[in-house]
Amino acid sequence: MRWVFLGLAMLTALIIREMGTRGTVSDRRPLMVFSDMDFQPRYNPQAAGPFFADGRAMRTPPAGTVPFGGTDYECDAGSPRQNPDLLREDDVYYRGKKGTAWVTANPLRVDMKLLQRGQERYGIFCAPCHGATGKGNGVITQYGLTGVAGITDALHALMPEGQFFDVISNGKGRMMPYGPQIKVRDRWAIIAYVRALARSQNAGITDVPESIRGELKP
Ligand code: HEC
Repeated sequence: MRWVFLGLAMLTALIIREMGTRGTVSDRRPLMVFSDMDFQPRYNPQAAGPFFADGRAMRTPPAGTVPFGGTDYECDAGSPRQNPDLLREDDVYYRGKKGTAWVTANPLRVDMKLLQRGQERYGIFCAPCHGATGKGNGVITQYGLTGVAGITDALHALMPEGQFFDVISNGKGRMMPYGPQIKVRDRWAIIAYVRALARSQNAGITDVPESIRGELKP
């Protein structure tokens, strides 16, 4: 009986040794009972392959092939919607820049739909820190993060749209970059919304349409 236990223990050790080795790089497949078609014959980029005469697995694109870019201007009726995120060649849209200067207008057509999208995204991604009103008093400030910027005051009204876009995309100071989480279109939507938010907080009588000014209580 002793030998059975000893044998079992050794077998277990062997299985763990075989299946559980970590941290070592190996070209061999892991031991898998059901492989679920995880492993299929293919070539890695830049790898060699025996099929073509030149021994390369990758092929040169046919002569005359042009890279295919474009911009995701969904809001501008009629403009083409090509592979938007392939080349990201549009500096204005993808970086908020024209040459070396920040763009000073939202490249998307700002309509109610865009603002509502911006409001929703703002609530998810920015309000926890900057607060629903953009005054920098989000819930996180009750948990220790201080120095969150207010972003709807007069100072930030002067901040160009493009720079705003850059802060969201790449972060600034203690604010992390949100580029990886927020789609390009949504970043512009958020900016449009923050502008509307700022305007609502600094509005004068001339911002109210004349037809309904009478309804305002003094
Ligand atoms: C985790 C908290 C946090 C989140 C989430 C956050 N921010 Fe910030 N943000 C900060 C802090 C902190 C600063 C001040 C950074 C500094 O100067 O060190 C800042 C700064 C800024 C600034 C620059 C202000 C200036 O004066 O230069 C802008 C613009 C801004 N945030 C916009 C946004 C927008 C838009 C979102 C949502 C997409 C967002 N932030 C999400 C914490 C946050």
